[in-house]
Amino acid sequence: MYDRILLTMDHKTTEYQTFSYQILTWYKENPRELPWRETHNPYKIWLSEIILQQTRVAQGLPYYYAFVEAYPTVKDLALAPEEEVLRLWQGLGYYSRARNLHACAKSIWFDMNGIFPNTYDELLKLKGVGSYTASAIASFAYGEVKAVVDGNVFRVLARYFGIETDIASSRAKKEFEALANQIIPIDQPGEFNQAMMDFGARMCTPKNPGCEICPLKSSCFALLYNMVSDLPVKINKVKIKERHFHYYVIKCGGKWVWKKRTSGDIWEGLFDFPQEETKEDQNVQSIDIPSASEKEFQPFPKKYRHILSHQRLNAVFSEIEIKEENLDQLENWCEKEGFMLVAEDKIEYLAKPKLIVNFLNDQGI
Ligand code: ADE
Repeated sequence: MYDRILLTMDHKTTEYQTFSYQILTWYKENPRELPWRETHNPYKIWLSEIILQQTRVAQGLPYYYAFVEAYPTVKDLALAPEEEVLRLWQGLGYYSRARNLHACAKSIWFDMNGIFPNTYDELLKLKGVGSYTASAIASFAYGEVKAVVDGNVFRVLARYFGIETDIASSRAKKEFEALANQIIPIDQPGEFNQAMMDFGARMCTPKNPGCEICPLKSSCFALLYNMVSDLPVKINKVKIKERHFHYYVIKCGGKWVWKKRTSGDIWEGLFDFPQEETKEDQNVQSIDIPSASEKEFQPFPKKYRHILSHQRLNAVFSEIEIKEENLDQLENWCEKEGFMLVAEDKIEYLAKPKLIVNFLNDQGI
């Protein structure tokens, strides 16, 4: 639909060199000092990348510092109890990442003699490490010429080169990776990758990009054809599921009933409360708690909402205070149902989903 200039190989090479030179120059003039950029330690770089798969730089920084302090080496992480790792990850969400992180550290420590894999191909074999993370570690730690491609890179390349491939399609990743690997300069692969991440995050942003001050403005396809807000193309096919949780906060003599979540659903291994789920937003109360009659259920008026990648959670909470004289009965029930009684001052040590932390904060816990 648009007249694109057909470029010969030489023209292309020159165009790619100009692009990478401009990006690197911008990066040198606009550096962001980040702790994982001051090291070539693959373990620390890997930690930072796994955290940054989950959150933005500003929110990820305190987690990075906490992990490096608690586990300065891959051995420390490998030997840590899983619950402690999940507790440190608390608030980041998507806990299978933390579990993979831990499993990965164990496999490096126990199966690979504690030696971190040192090529892209070997890194790719690690649990939770895809092409993006493998490229990031390989280029930052070992100087391997492998381009990272994530949402930021999709956007910069799609706009600058006028690529209209749907970035949610299966061929997009291959196409953009091939292009990025042609552009990446062989003498500064790590710098270039960092520069692309930052350029996408700070200049070529999804909304209100800095086109007027952009060093690439005279040759950017999207700017030239007034397509900045149209690129990259993303056709969204993901169906979002609404879920309705009814939580029971059961207390007895300063102890609370908790439930460790099992596999096959969100938040595996984290702690929340006994719960019922409905398809619609409706009232239920079919849970049978020993020695608690219906009138002892105290619903909290506040409703909670939490957004996950493919699910929207709606939660309401009811409090049930059981008389201390019925503690034995409650304990038997907990054992039968697989619940746990936890003293109030020990609650902070449980790894909990953010939704539950928000509820507890409102309770002053
Ligand atoms: N996002 C993912 N990896 C990153 C990194 N190394 N620096 C900044 N932002 C990032």
